[in-house]
Amino acid sequence: MRILIHADDAALWKDRLASRLPSAEFAISGETSDFQADYLAAWKPPASLFEAQPALKGIVNLGAGVDALLNNPALPRDIPIVKLRDAGMGELIADYVRYGVLHFQRDFDRYRRQQHHTTWREHALTPKREWAVGVLGLGSIGRHVARQLANDGYPVHGWSRSPKALKGITCHDGDDGLQTLLGKAHTLVTLLPDTPATRGIIDRDALAALPDSASLINPGRGTLIDETALLEALGTGEEENGRLRGALLDAFPTEPLPDDSPLWQHPRLWITPHMAGPTPIDEAADQVAKALTAMQAGEAIDTVDPKAGY
Ligand code: GLV
Repeated sequence: MRILIHADDAALWKDRLASRLPSAEFAISGETSDFQADYLAAWKPPASLFEAQPALKGIVNLGAGVDALLNNPALPRDIPIVKLRDAGMGELIADYVRYGVLHFQRDFDRYRRQQHHTTWREHALTPKREWAVGVLGLGSIGRHVARQLANDGYPVHGWSRSPKALKGITCHDGDDGLQTLLGKAHTLVTLLPDTPATRGIIDRDALAALPDSASLINPGRGTLIDETALLEALGTGEEENGRLRGALLDAFPTEPLPDDSPLWQHPRLWITPHMAGPTPIDEAADQVAKALTAMQAGEAIDTVDPKAGY
């Protein structure tokens, strides 16, 4: 089988995949012009790549989110797409979220501000068991995050569009379930895919439904959050105003976050550059090699549903 790789670290992918698929032929996009691939393993390929590759039989998305791929106007609509399903990103993202939850639950945001003002004042501690965390999205990564937080001792509420049952997690679904979860979440964690149904799901109404002084952690997709509503709910200035206390944001509709974005300067926002869950290449290469082998053998595999968007 002939496999074309398109990714920032394509040489690394090629090396890891070649050791798992010794009889396959590989090429890196942009390095050869006459390679006609059977399969594409790619992260955010340009439309021109598809135009030059008319014989593709399948695609492996080298990441968890397929939004960029599905929004590609030249994507062939009639071949299977496989995506990475928590190849170790779940653990990394769970750590990111735990850092964020602790940040707010243990008042590190408040103590940081106090330090700037040379203020020594202890805040009453809200114990973990009273700090409900809401996790939106219970795919492979959301589930991992929810379980980890529950193991840590937080009451965890999870939400997905269709009903799910997870041990140790209070699961909610549908529009009513979302309202119930929002009303409880001291910290809201957004791990939904970017689809037409989730775009802007955290809007003014959703933010207003959170308890007072709630916090938000978004390691998912920037498009989930209505930025204007977020800034409104935060209010201006470094002092909390009883509404949204602060947010830790890793994903943005435009990345890198533009220099003139007001998010950079807000004193109660923490911005990270889409680093919450980098793909661990060795674990991921196992999944990619397995998917390519299964596609080649015509075996049934878990493929992306382009209509659902994940
Ligand atoms: C990263 O954001 C991914 O979707 O894997």
